[in-house]
Amino acid sequence: MNLEFLQTVDTQILVSVAVAIVVVGVGAVFVFSSKKPKGSFDPEKFKEFKLVKRTQLSHNVAKFTFALPTPTSVLGLPIGQHISCRSSGRPQFIDHGLLPSSKQFFVTENGNPETRIQNNVDHSVGNRSILRDNKGGEEEEETPEKLVDVKCNAGDKQTLRVFLYDLHPEFHFELLDWKPSGESVWPDIRTKILDYPGGLNLQHSIEYWLTLDLLASELPGSTSARSAIRVRNSSEADVLFVPFFSSLSYNRYSKVNPHQKKSRNNFLQEKLVTFLTAQPEWKRSGGRDHIVLAHHPNSMLKARMKLWPAMFILSDFGRYPPNIANVEKDVIAPYKHVIRRYVNDKSDFDSRPTLLYFQGAIYRKDGGYARQELFYLLKDEKDVHFSFGSVQKGGINSASQGMHSSKFCLNIAGDTPSSNRLFDAIASHCVPVIISDDIELPYEDVLDYSQFCIFVRTSDAIKKNFLINLIRSIGKDEWTRMWKKLQEVENFFEFQYPSKEGDAVQMIWQAIARKVPSIKMKINRSRRYSRFVPHKDRGLSSVPSPNNFW
Ligand SMILES: *[C@@H]1O[C@H](CO)[C@@H](O)[C@H](O)[C@H]1NC(C)=O
Ligand SMILES: *[C@@H]1O[C@H](CO)[C@@H](O)[C@H](O)[C@H]1NC(C)=O
Ligand SMILES: *[C@@H]1O[C@H](CO)[C@@H](O)[C@H](O)[C@H]1NC(C)=O
Repeated sequence: MNLEFLQTVDTQILVSVAVAIVVVGVGAVFVFSSKKPKGSFDPEKFKEFKLVKRTQLSHNVAKFTFALPTPTSVLGLPIGQHISCRSSGRPQFIDHGLLPSSKQFFVTENGNPETRIQNNVDHSVGNRSILRDNKGGEEEEETPEKLVDVKCNAGDKQTLRVFLYDLHPEFHFELLDWKPSGESVWPDIRTKILDYPGGLNLQHSIEYWLTLDLLASELPGSTSARSAIRVRNSSEADVLFVPFFSSLSYNRYSKVNPHQKKSRNNFLQEKLVTFLTAQPEWKRSGGRDHIVLAHHPNSMLKARMKLWPAMFILSDFGRYPPNIANVEKDVIAPYKHVIRRYVNDKSDFDSRPTLLYFQGAIYRKDGGYARQELFYLLKDEKDVHFSFGSVQKGGINSASQGMHSSKFCLNIAGDTPSSNRLFDAIASHCVPVIISDDIELPYEDVLDYSQFCIFVRTSDAIKKNFLINLIRSIGKDEWTRMWKKLQEVENFFEFQYPSKEGDAVQMIWQAIARKVPSIKMKINRSRRYSRFVPHKDRGLSSVPSPNNFW
């Protein structure tokens, strides 16, 4: 079997690639402490593996095949554990952890992909009997014909180490009406998973799913799907996660009650800012490696002006000044779709009677004017469903039905560039038609939306007959390609607990992980003049208050 290694690197670096890698099984200590492993990795020491083949796959991707020590060697990497790779030559361009998963890591016999034992190493790694070659002896050191394929994908799939602030429960699960007992900050997720409030609240429930996933990363038997793990020592973390359920706080506690001076939402934000900015961890990085959740466009209105150096998890940048939030620094997360997922979709182009579907509120301000224009342009088309009224009023069921029986679903900018409608359309396999010039899309650095969405500039869409002619010109074949692609990608937008490989929770962690190198650079740059007295709160005074922004 081969140990195969897929690495994205500079062509120049590739030329001087090492002849061996060393691998250590990280975190396997616990699993193996009672039983000595026969596996090929040592949880404490890096071990060398011989490079037997290198295949150039594209200008910057190469596949490396390594031999295990003997023909009978087993990989011996239990599910949920990961390995760290490091090149032993110069320069040391590889140095990262990777989880076994079908994308990175697979097993072949004698380097021949035709006799791949298991495509999906989630099983073969966990199931050591598959890897064990029963014929051979143990000591044939000189004939490494048993090889293992490992594909490492640098940067794309490393395990993110996340420090979770133990914020007082009033910032998170108490908002879900959890009553902590004693000193505990976190509910015991082994006994009960608290529900997030339903309905439209769920659209912005990202805070809840990410927090649950971090808590779950400490449970035994957590799966290989994991892209992030909780670490207790903040010095060892890549990022520091601030578990304030800010969208829920906005949705539920924005009202100022008669006996109060300020809303609970504002009170919590102020308290959070005071707490966070006093932490040594915050001071160490100026907050740059902190993750702050603000998915609802109106959440964190106060705190964001103080916490802006952090990485925000947002739905879009519509209500943010560009110096407070931008695509370089922050991560766009999908909305959780509110309509039913189209499970077992047997529909096709001809069986979806409605050509184009839109259901939503009218907006007359900002970017929302296009909705009205489009309504007048489309209202006389027989196979177009265009009606105003929110999904909630019309009922989630009828919207599900509408989207499941439409070929195309319109997403027109409203008072913000994004809405859950796009993710409802994806879950319905209704090809999204996006008319929103300022929309930002989740994980767009790794996902080409043009393969399954139609983008139309607003200025074009409101020309007479432009949109309807465009939609009618898309034939069955092209539509079917996009419909199939939607089913391939829909999992990327699915929030669930426990989280599974490639779902929205994992995709968001991976998007965060891709930002870590630039965070590190920013922190190091910020230290250039650290010997001098720092400018206090530099930059804040030049930032206009968000109240001026809509
Ligand atoms: C392990 O391998 C055996 C034999 O191929 C198979 O029957 C079993 O389902 C596998 N178990 C897991 C957890 O993959
Ligand atoms: C946390 O990690 C740092 C760096 O690895 C180490 O120096 C420190 O001792 C650790 N702290 C604790 C409490 O383990
Ligand atoms: C700063 O530079 C060092 C040395 O290259 C690097 O190891 C580190 O990750 C960088 N970032 C931080 C936050 O220290």
